[in-house]
Amino acid sequence: MSLFPARSPRPVRRWQHGNAGVLRGVPCRRMHRGRPVRRSTTSGPAADRTTEGVEGMDRPVIGIFGAGKVGTALARLLVASGHRVLIAGSPRQTALDLVVGVVAPGTEVASPDALVAAADVIVVAVPFGKAGTVPWGSFDGRIVVDAMNYWPPIDGAIPEVDADPRSTSEINAARNPAARLVKSLNHLGYHEMEDDSMPPGSTLRRALAVVGDDPEARRVIARLIDAIGFDPVDGGALAHGVLLEPGHPVFGRELSCAELGALLTPRAPEAAAA
Ligand SMILES: NC(=O)c1ccc[n+]([C@@H]2O[C@H](COP(=O)([O-])OP(=O)(O)OC[C@H]3O[C@@H](n4cnc5c(N)ncnc54)[C@H](OP(=O)(O)O)[C@@H]3O)[C@@H](O)[C@H]2O)c1
Repeated sequence: MSLFPARSPRPVRRWQHGNAGVLRGVPCRRMHRGRPVRRSTTSGPAADRTTEGVEGMDRPVIGIFGAGKVGTALARLLVASGHRVLIAGSPRQTALDLVVGVVAPGTEVASPDALVAAADVIVVAVPFGKAGTVPWGSFDGRIVVDAMNYWPPIDGAIPEVDADPRSTSEINAARNPAARLVKSLNHLGYHEMEDDSMPPGSTLRRALAVVGDDPEARRVIARLIDAIGFDPVDGGALAHGVLLEPGHPVFGRELSCAELGALLTPRAPEAAAA
């Protein structure tokens, strides 16, 4: 079941009609421009993934938990942008090699252990209600992207989560405080990932937020967002992740960098300073 209504045809964006002026003065916290790009020399298990080694990589190795709609769409984009991508499915998924070979060619199916050993960046894209089945304990020091949403029609109502004012990503971060968790990729539909991907500088390029308490991890994920065809916007601390979740203004909306920045700005002033 898709979290997002299908959009067709592509809507006309407001700034095409000259309304972008209302956003003038809102800083667009692009995080990747002007940074030196260094070629990766570290892509094996011995790579230093817990320090600045990851930030210096041109194309970090990506490991995705969840070979579903989001996981495979993301894998296609990452493979297309030159990344090595590993994917781990749920234990009950059989013939995953065959499926992934068709829906996300070039992606390597891996066991959870092999994925964690090889990946510089780990993306968790499983149903929120199954997040506990992912091996968080092995993510020490790792940059981890939480792409999940708590979605009661899928996950069932979870009273503790309903009563918890934190971002669901703070809940997930507590599963392993030693992981460097970033929330991103959760606020667009899986079917939009490829449809809306555009080269840098495109007028209509869509923006995606990156929030997390580790500035370096945010920068690494911002570069990844850029590499797959979106403008990254720094949303600051992980607590701001609530703004990206279902029911909040950012969720499911096709926004420019300036528009997204404006929506995040009231809650993320410290982001720029981080
Ligand atoms: N659909 C969207 O447009 C969209 C957009 C943004 C974010 N999200 C969020 O992203 C997450 C994934 O959504 P989706 O639409 O891709 O769901 P999906 O199509 O159901 O795929 C999730 C996959 O994860 C698998 N899985 C469960 N536990 C696992 C584990 N421990 N290790 C590896 N794989 C595991 C599931 O297998 P089983 O079925 O066997 O459990 C399923 O194949 C959800 O949290 C969702 O809220 C979805």
